[in-house]
Amino acid sequence: MSILASPPRNPSAVLATEIAKNKTAALARHVRFIAQGFTHLAIEVATFVSLRSHDGCVVDAASRLELSRPAVYGLGMWRSICILLVVVFSIDTEAQPAGANYDESKVPEYILPDPLIGLDGTTIKTASQWQKQRRGEILKLFESNVYGRSPEATKIRFKQTSGETKALGGKATRREVTVFLTGKEDGPTMDLLIFIPNKAKRPVPAFLGLNFAGNHAVDTDPWISLARCWLPNNRDGSVTNNRATDAGRGKEASRWQVEKVIDRGYALVTACYCDIEPDHAEGYKTSIRSVLRPEKPKGFNPSAEPPKGAPADAAPDEWGAIGAWAFGLSRAMDYLEQEKDIDEKHVAVLGHSRLGKTALWAGAQDERFAIVISNDSGEGGAALSKRRFGETVERINTSFPHWFCTNFKKYNNNEGELPLDQHMLISLMAPRPVYVASAQEDLWADPKGEFLSAKHAEPVYKLFGLEGLGVSEMPGTNQPVGKTIGYHIRSGKHDVTEYDWEQYLNLADRHFVKK
Ligand code: GCU
Repeated sequence: MSILASPPRNPSAVLATEIAKNKTAALARHVRFIAQGFTHLAIEVATFVSLRSHDGCVVDAASRLELSRPAVYGLGMWRSICILLVVVFSIDTEAQPAGANYDESKVPEYILPDPLIGLDGTTIKTASQWQKQRRGEILKLFESNVYGRSPEATKIRFKQTSGETKALGGKATRREVTVFLTGKEDGPTMDLLIFIPNKAKRPVPAFLGLNFAGNHAVDTDPWISLARCWLPNNRDGSVTNNRATDAGRGKEASRWQVEKVIDRGYALVTACYCDIEPDHAEGYKTSIRSVLRPEKPKGFNPSAEPPKGAPADAAPDEWGAIGAWAFGLSRAMDYLEQEKDIDEKHVAVLGHSRLGKTALWAGAQDERFAIVISNDSGEGGAALSKRRFGETVERINTSFPHWFCTNFKKYNNNEGELPLDQHMLISLMAPRPVYVASAQEDLWADPKGEFLSAKHAEPVYKLFGLEGLGVSEMPGTNQPVGKTIGYHIRSGKHDVTEYDWEQYLNLADRHFVKK
């Protein structure tokens, strides 16, 4: 098949159930909306009466309304009940951003480019043709149109800043290492937090991923240094004045499962993504993107209208924040190649959501990552853009103008013109194992689109004699599938859970022969 058409509309039970679920969800939304309207009205009435009681005019208000004192108390109670109702009805169990398409029947017809047809029209029939010709072409397509070109790798330097051989109750060795990303001590840095199992025979395989809230948020261990980088303020007190506080310690522990990873014999390596680039539209000004710029294309003239989220003179294919974060992961890998206790040939890179997009882009560019894992990465990650289900190219470029290169904005509301789709990003991992995970309530990230990407990357794995996903239908909830390409849709929300980690550890157990 030279062209991959969109899957038929209603052929499978899976699809039918999904549509039914979407309809029920839409109905639930309407009921909730109407209920909210009524309860708000009721609150207005009750508040009008009971507010007067706070003015000390209870008797006056009651007598004017000819109400007895118990009736006034009754109104107070009624108001409380109404407030409770509003709270209950306001809990949106789906919590999906509004205004997006969540209806499978509204997915447009689309055509996916075939990863096995080269730009010159040749059909790619062998693994070596793939490696020599097609892989590079696809990588370039992603550089030019989506994530931008990254600069050449730098030569890092590093310094260990702390060490403890009896962390996690003696189970692990904990190290902190500052990586000088450009090799200069006065240049940008990234602080790595490393846990290495004490029981396992070293060097050990490892999981590497960027975290959202600082290394100190990954585990409750009070000796982990607080993140030094800019972080978004948080009303829970974990970040004030854009600086981390002790209140954030262990805040993301459920997403990292440090003890579980250590017990299974793996090291865990992480750094905060804001070390590499603060995650906001002006972040490039203080990030690695302010000191490292990819070479400008020949004869390039900056456009009159400065790009958003990038330096004013940025080329339209210059790297964005995702490119910068992925660059950081590769520099962490440079460090791991020099870390004697970690087996650098067995490092799995993983990430959640925007950091899942980042892990995929890092894995696509840097083949030293032996396994690549995308957790709920959605638009610009594992989900097919051309489906326009949940988040779209326009939405992501508008909310996060700094994530991708300027050229990606050409595809706002214009996904049909994309000369690629995300199944081709997954195919760039071949023949290495790759895992795509979705969550059932995370429609914004388009679970089905994530599954289809994994599915349509399969022909490339077949070139290597590998089975790939090994199923033709989207599996049911909590039923992991796949061999070299893994996939699951977990029950629950957009998150990384113990269940997700369990599958990633199983995948690593299958593919990494532990020493
Ligand atoms: C937003 C964004 C997603 C992203 C997510 C996250 O929801 O629209 O594309 O994956 O944030 O990173 O948590």
